[in-house]
Amino acid sequence: MKPLTLEPIHSPLSGELAVPGDKSISHRAIIFGSLAKGTTIITNFLDGEDCLATIKAFQLMGVDIEQQHQKVTIRSKGIDGLTEPLLPINLGNSGTTARLLLGVLAGLPFHTTLYGDQSLTKRPMDRIAKPLEQMGAKLDGREMGKYLPMAVRGQSLKGITFRPQVKSAQVKSGVLLAGLLAEGKTTIIESTKTRDHTENMLTAFGGNIRVNGNEITLVGKQQLTAAKIQVPGDISSAAFFIVAALLVPNSEITIKEVGLNHTRTGILDALAAMNVNIEIKETAHVGGEVIGSITIKHSQIHGADISGDIIPRMIDELPIIALLATQAKGKTIIRDAEELRYKETDRIDSVVQTLTALGANVKPTNDGMIIEGGASLKGTQLNSYGDHRIGMMIVIASLICEGNITLIDAEAINVSYPRFFEDLKKIT
Ligand code: S3P
Repeated sequence: MKPLTLEPIHSPLSGELAVPGDKSISHRAIIFGSLAKGTTIITNFLDGEDCLATIKAFQLMGVDIEQQHQKVTIRSKGIDGLTEPLLPINLGNSGTTARLLLGVLAGLPFHTTLYGDQSLTKRPMDRIAKPLEQMGAKLDGREMGKYLPMAVRGQSLKGITFRPQVKSAQVKSGVLLAGLLAEGKTTIIESTKTRDHTENMLTAFGGNIRVNGNEITLVGKQQLTAAKIQVPGDISSAAFFIVAALLVPNSEITIKEVGLNHTRTGILDALAAMNVNIEIKETAHVGGEVIGSITIKHSQIHGADISGDIIPRMIDELPIIALLATQAKGKTIIRDAEELRYKETDRIDSVVQTLTALGANVKPTNDGMIIEGGASLKGTQLNSYGDHRIGMMIVIASLICEGNITLIDAEAINVSYPRFFEDLKKIT
């Protein structure tokens, strides 16, 4: 794709928008639908490249999955109906598919090999491989088991009690999925609660799981039954338009039917701390998830200290919040976010480099960054570095820059938001 020229905007953003389905929930719907016996129907599925990689993985294991845009029908014979894939499985850019699928494959009687693109090949897999090995899994990855490509020889697994060192829902979910196939009980005790879509969806598929604060327990060898899943809109995608409305003077927009699960709404709490005028309405509960609307008006934002337990609740929104902070009154400090270094790019480096190139004053720290507010941003040539969230952050920055931005590798956005530019048009 040719580099894109992005021009500043001279009028307010307005109108209503329903963002695409949640990425985390879409992945889990495919996984549980493939493990559950019967016909599962998923609506508002996110047909971005990451979730399509999860579909392909289960198709390679013999599951009948029909996907037409946002509707997916899965006809599965259940766990025992899965078959050994003939070919290595390509996970593309998708860390969620890698960590969750490793949990499933560890307990299935097959040999499989997983690989991904350049970015995924550099992301740590030992965080999930280690607990799976404690359960009895046999995995073998590059650099002594740390990275993809990784081969899995499925085994009979035993449940464990696991206290994760990293605050990662992907790791938690991989272990829970392995626990589902294992003998006995699996317990996970998190130091900070991470997104709980796996727990919610297991219940929606008729599974039994006990959640007591940060302690989660399930017993293995459960039979799941097919379900109808409506995927809520993705708050991580909505975040880009929320920030756009805050940045462009006189804007007011409403995002409808968006997921408001408390483990994902750290961004709303951070915005409240930044003095933002925001109206949140919960309208429904579907499959254990809360859905509602968010109305956002342009406001004068203040810098804030963003750290601690809120970080896992907004980890994917930190790049776009960093852009917002460049326009705040005062300084914003992001701490306790070292996990940003293990995303599709090292997002401390990629955010700092991008915002600095635009003229902002941003300093990296080991576990976050310090952003001075009140910057005047100037258009320049930028690269998404193949990271969808960096690509979208750059597009939103272009709305308020002096001069144009030339964006290289805008197609990375297709990973989580294929209709991003169309949706942006709807509110401009
Ligand atoms: C995800 C969890 C988060 C998030 C990712 C999706 C998930 O990763 O960054 O985009 O679906 O469980 P970690 O759990 O590794 O922090």
